[in-house]
Amino acid sequence: MFIRPQRPWQGREQDVTPEPVYRQRRRFMRDAAGVLLTASGLPALAGAAIPEGRFDDPEGPGRFSTDEDRTPYGDVTGYNNFFEFGSSKSDPSEYAESMPIDPWSIRVEGEAEETGDIPLEDFIRPHAFEERIYRLRCVEGWSMVIPWIGFPLTDVIRRLRPTSRAKYVEFITLHDPENMRGQRRDILDWPYVEGLRMDEASHPLTILAVGLYGEALPKQNGAPIRLVVPWKYGFKSIKSIVKIRFVEEQPTSSWMRSAPDEYGFYANVNPEVSHPRWSQRRERRIGEFGKRPTEKFNGYGEWVAGLYRGMDLEKHF
Ligand code: MTE
Repeated sequence: MFIRPQRPWQGREQDVTPEPVYRQRRRFMRDAAGVLLTASGLPALAGAAIPEGRFDDPEGPGRFSTDEDRTPYGDVTGYNNFFEFGSSKSDPSEYAESMPIDPWSIRVEGEAEETGDIPLEDFIRPHAFEERIYRLRCVEGWSMVIPWIGFPLTDVIRRLRPTSRAKYVEFITLHDPENMRGQRRDILDWPYVEGLRMDEASHPLTILAVGLYGEALPKQNGAPIRLVVPWKYGFKSIKSIVKIRFVEEQPTSSWMRSAPDEYGFYANVNPEVSHPRWSQRRERRIGEFGKRPTEKFNGYGEWVAGLYRGMDLEKHF
């Protein structure tokens, strides 16, 4: 097996990754995570920031991971929503390279004991990376299966020690119209904002991702750090996070602000609740022909349905 040391898995020939290659890749990630991530274009995640052996690579894919076929790398990194770079699916891969990600820091604000600016290296250093193969279901009616590298958000929350007044967590994306050409237009009210209720944020399925397919997160996928909430429509999984705020009141997300009748705060995948302009009953898995039925909570109900017991999910969509 030949693995090139730099940007090893890019280009069309890697679009479909044979299983042995993929397994090899996972091992490589575990053996030399820091080197690999640095070589992949994320200097802020230098070797020092990612201690060797911190990549938890159990023999199996882990209890939260799906064993469905992974969406080819080329689709995961070439068919994106990142409206900061434009509204066509190819805009993010075409234009995101201009986004500066080194240095990067995350500002923590609000109802927590630990607040202030935290350089990315310090933010991620204490955490053990895991691979999580999750379904991502976009509100537009397509879906993918993506092998993320990340760590549970709940571990970060524990470190930052929110006060009892913190009921929600708000996340904010970088605002840099000079380098993010989509922000020069009013597609959304910039910067992009999302939020979770504290119990959703603390759920073990919710992760902060810093990589995918065993390499550092490509910019079009939200480098250097993004949220992934697999039971909700993809728009909750906010990219390129620069601010995390612990707040008492429910945040207003960018999508709620732009179209309150179409996008609610909860955004749980729910085939029973149509988007006002289209049904949510079926989805197209990218790379497949035809459509498949959409599952409630994107198939993660056994773990998350309890969070919403007693709530009317038609009202709280
Ligand atoms: N985050 C920011 N900052 N800006 C965006 O436009 N799009 C969301 C979400 N996170 C978006 C974002 C939407 S609509 C989807 S479906 C997912 O990112 C897509 O993630 P992917 O491109 O990595 O598949």
